Amino acid sequence: MTEEPQVPASQPRVAVIVSGSGTLLQALLDNAQGYTISSVLSDRADALGLERARAAGVPTAVVELKDFPDRASWDRGLLRAVETFSPDLIVLAGFMRIIGEPLLSTYGGRIINTHPALLPAFPGAHGVRDALAHGVKVTGCSVIIVDAGTDTGPIVAQQAVDVLDDDSQESLHERIKVVERNLLVDVVEQMATTGWQVDGRRVRLGRAAG
Ligand code: GAR
Repeated sequence: MTEEPQVPASQPRVAVIVSGSGTLLQALLDNAQGYTISSVLSDRADALGLERARAAGVPTAVVELKDFPDRASWDRGLLRAVETFSPDLIVLAGFMRIIGEPLLSTYGGRIINTHPALLPAFPGAHGVRDALAHGVKVTGCSVIIVDAGTDTGPIVAQQAVDVLDDDSQESLHERIKVVERNLLVDVVEQMATTGWQVDGRRVRLGRAAG
């Protein structure tokens, strides 16, 4: 099924959600062109990504699971927090939780996730570890549009990275992240400024989509 083209807003606002160190977020903060990173949210108050956002003068919000009675109310809390920033596009950059129904039903089709493996291989929280354990010679990173599954959404862009004989999980992940930062910067700029269209599982970027 071909969905309506997603056309860019005049001043695209991008929300980034992180759980960890936020080096991908930093790449976006350093290279955002034609759009604004208008907010950074996290499920962890101690995420270094929040400090990166504050240093860049970007508003932040923390939505921690422990502050909610259950997962369903946390999902609703995350939606409320996101809504206060009115984003046009949401980027999960090292966000280590599954997106729940509340956020998906409001922002579905406008949430992207970056993953450190060539999906559909090695989805989930341990993409680098699982690829290394499987013995693949090539892995990489994928940017996808988030759906209700775990790393199952339509693929927007991918890039390959060779696995070296002496790679550890850390060395391989670091090399993937070098490539992943550039890929994410490119994809977010294109999606925010020129739009995209989803046709079945195929995603087309750019003005042709409009
Ligand atoms: C990235 O490699 C990203 O793909 C991964 O976390 C890293 C975040 O790096 N995300 C996932 O594994 C999500 N399942 P960073 O904190 O340095 O930006």
